[in-house]
Parts: sequence; C-alpha cells; structure tokens
Amino acid sequence: MSMNSGFEVRSFKEIDSTNTYLIEEAKQGARDGLVATAAFQTAGRGRQGRTWEAPEGSALLVSALLRPVMSPDEAHLVATAVALSARAAIEQLSGLRASLKWPNDLVVEAAKIAGILGEIAPDAPGGSDGSIAVVVGIGINLSTEGPPEAKGTSVLAQTGSAPSPDELLDQFLAELSTRRSMLDEPEGRAALLAEARSLMSTLGSQVRVTRQDSILEGKALELTDGARLIVLDDAGERHVISVGDLIHLRPR
Ligand code: BTN
Repeated sequence: MSMNSGFEVRSFKEIDSTNTYLIEEAKQGARDGLVATAAFQTAGRGRQGRTWEAPEGSALLVSALLRPVMSPDEAHLVATAVALSARAAIEQLSGLRASLKWPNDLVVEAAKIAGILGEIAPDAPGGSDGSIAVVVGIGINLSTEGPPEAKGTSVLAQTGSAPSPDELLDQFLAELSTRRSMLDEPEGRAALLAEARSLMSTLGSQVRVTRQDSILEGKALELTDGARLIVLDDAGERHVISVGDLIHLRPR
C-alpha cells in the first residue's frame, strides 16, 4: 500500500481483475479513493460481459473506488472523469492527443487506445451523506494493441515510445485527484461535462448503436447532463442512449 496524489494505492503483480477486487472491498466498506493496479489480470473484464486481456506490463491496468455525493443517475460521470484524467495524462507524458468516444473509450482516430468499465458497487453500504460507491477501471494500451479484432492502437504504436505503467499511473492519479473533487458539486460536474463535450469525437458524427434487440443509426447530437447520448435517427426521432455499442460511421 502507498499513497499517491491522495489515493491509497494497492499494487498487485497479478490479480483476477482490479474492478472485481474493488467491488469486493467496497462491499466491506472500503473508503473513497482506494485504487488497485496490477501488472497482469487473469480475469480482466470489459464492458458488456467481454473479457479484457493484456500481456504483463504492456498496459496500465487500474481501478478506483470513488464515493461521490451524487445520484446514481449521474454515475456515468465518474467514468467520464477517469477518461478525461487518462486522456490528459497520456498527452502530458507522450504528446499524444486521444479523443473520447462515447461512452468512455479513448481513441486515436478510430482506433481504441483505452477502455473503461464503470460499475456501481452493489450492496455497498450507501453513505448517509448521499454518496454512491462507484468502481471505475481503465486499461490503457502502452505497448499492446489488444486483440486484432479490436482494431486497437497503443502509445508505442502512435509515438514510437511509451511511458512505463508506473509513470502513467502517477500522472493519471494527479489528474484524477483534481477531477475527483469536481464530482461532488453540480458546478464541478458541469465543468467535467463541458470538458468531455469538447473532447468527444462522437458528437456530430454519424453513428450506429447496437442495442440488445435493435440497431439504431443516426447522428450523435449531444451529451445529456447524465452523460447519455442523444441520437437523431433518419426519421427525425431523438433517442437517449445509455448503454450499447457504438461505432462511428463517418467522421464529423
Ligand atoms: C472495455 O472497453 O470493454 C472496458 C475495458 C476495461 C478494462 C479495465 S483493465 C482494469 C480494470 N479491471 C478490469 O477487469 N477491467 C478494467
């Protein structure tokens, strides 16, 4: 255990999943700001039940337990804060400018460089102060591009060199500590949304959203205050999207 930018960091050589670990810790009442990182995950999880695999040391694999004071409807924003923090840290260390792809991927052009999994910790003791327990994990590709079918990229592939996972972790936590405090207040949340809107390549793009039972195509118009996506379909109907897979059909 060590402290880093106000976070308590637990570093593992190997773990099943840093998200799974923190969800268990949250159930036991672990505090806001507990962070878990691992050189290797044996059961890394992606969104929508997918697995997330990275060779040892090839990616920054990190999760944070945060207990912001907000309604569960706004929990998306916690993942947004993590995405923005990672984006800024990557740029500071490598000069690489990734953008956000809704909901929270980081991409360079169309290629994914980082994926985020945000989960509301179930059965966690709710704060009497109105806080909720959210675990957000991110995998940032440093020297791995992920499985071929993911059509991903890495900091190494984009810039010819990559910071170490530890270097990137330090910078990421410094960025996250600023944004963490913004999550508790409406003005801070509004500022985070404004930052996300300005860095989200999805807005203005033609998109296809694959949902459980349907496929929706249209233009991504805006991000709601709860970080949901408004899509205008070809018939002129507006849809509010909260989950689903999205691909960009045409750049804006
Ligand atoms: C996705 O794009 O599908 C989300 C991937 C999230 C991966 C990270 S790696 C650290 C943390 N632990 C996990 O098991 N998953 C997240």
